[in-house]
Amino acid sequence: MKKLTVAVIGCGGFAKSFVPLFKAHPNVEKVYVCDLIRERAEDYSQKFQVEIIDTFEDSLARKDISTIAIFTERHTHGPLVIKALKSGKHVYSAVPLASEVDECQEIVELVEKTGLTYMMGETCIYYPSSMFCKKEMQKGTFGKFVYAEAQYHHDIHDFGAKFLSDKKSAGVPPFYYPTHSTGMVLNAAGTYVTKVTAFGYEDTEMDGIFEKGVNMWDNIYSNSYSLMKLANGGVARINECRRIGYKAPSSYVSSFYGTKASYQFNNAQHLLVRQLGPNKVDLDDVSDDVNPYEMTQNKGNADFKVRVANHGWQHGVFSPQQKSEIERLPESFKGLLNGHMGSHQILIDDFCTAVYTGTIPTVNVWLASRFTVPGLLAHQSVVKEGLAIDVPDFGNPPA
Ligand SMILES: NC(=O)c1ccc[n+]([C@@H]2O[C@H](COP(=O)([O-])OP(=O)(O)OC[C@H]3O[C@@H](n4cnc5c(N)ncnc54)[C@H](O)[C@@H]3O)[C@@H](O)[C@H]2O)c1
Repeated sequence: MKKLTVAVIGCGGFAKSFVPLFKAHPNVEKVYVCDLIRERAEDYSQKFQVEIIDTFEDSLARKDISTIAIFTERHTHGPLVIKALKSGKHVYSAVPLASEVDECQEIVELVEKTGLTYMMGETCIYYPSSMFCKKEMQKGTFGKFVYAEAQYHHDIHDFGAKFLSDKKSAGVPPFYYPTHSTGMVLNAAGTYVTKVTAFGYEDTEMDGIFEKGVNMWDNIYSNSYSLMKLANGGVARINECRRIGYKAPSSYVSSFYGTKASYQFNNAQHLLVRQLGPNKVDLDDVSDDVNPYEMTQNKGNADFKVRVANHGWQHGVFSPQQKSEIERLPESFKGLLNGHMGSHQILIDDFCTAVYTGTIPTVNVWLASRFTVPGLLAHQSVVKEGLAIDVPDFGNPPA
């Protein structure tokens, strides 16, 4: 087993949470950083005491670099991942897998052909609401899966000045970034999408974001809503909204129904309803099992719900659902920055362990494709006024 040498590509807002984690992981030998904008790489280099690699292409040519970690803008991932795999590198990539169905298929085939590791950093599979539904599903609490609802609600004004100033990409179709919402339901239900139909909200704000001739997709839809038919016989309602009077919790499973039980969520309250017999159900408030520890400690505060609605206690925190994941984290992660409900540390440990031990990672390429492709086709359905579209599946990970 050989330790990883990692080149982090893209020194923007997100990667700064991950460079220290790669550096601290016991399976990692060395970390480099790279950005098209030299000052950003220099800033990272100073802040995190890492060397700079001039270009992405240089990192591919270097024999001592085994691993590429991609943190570039969301629509750039596909071509970069393909080049990295073709150069014999393991790949960690921020979401999504890619922005074209063909690219997703090519990436799956490259991983199958080369045996290299690809992992997509889907933060939401470690969101406690999704972990709770997955565990109860596996225990049989829900019986057969029937229906679920999940969404990623993130108003465009919340994206920050840098994101909004890039007019060509700020108006990206909402369903080109589908993996938080699809991932939470599909991972919990253990299934994949076979067909999708979707509608969109045509934006009317005229602020140079979701307008024809402005963004590179000519996209006019700021919100999109879909129904996805699943391979297990169930259906999911998945929404991606970017113009919405709402803030947090932004990515959540809001309901998950089976033949024997159901889960419902609203703000910080999580309810589990189980059938006891033909005419009676049992109701448990499971909020303390699902919410992060810090949230539970503060639930008596007068402003508790307002703080939750403003993203309180949803970043560098852990929940009882993540107990076994926290226990296996390396000691060297203690005190380091975390994020997205404690998922950053877990994801980096998943990836570094998988590459080092030659095992299949959690959000492997087959899963990443199942989370991404339905969204890409949902946008096609939006454009075609709800046309039902078959969703191809690129298979299961090897046993
Ligand atoms: N919860 C989550 O999973 C989550 C949250 C935030 C961001 N993200 C994802 O993380 C990624 C990065 O987001 P961000 O906010 O840091 O973006 P950003 O725009 O702040 O940074 C991207 C950086 O990549 C650089 N870059 C682009 N192409 C490059 C290339 N070929 N070589 C070297 N550098 C290159 C850009 O110059 C820029 O500095 C995005 O894909 C985003 O979707 C995921």
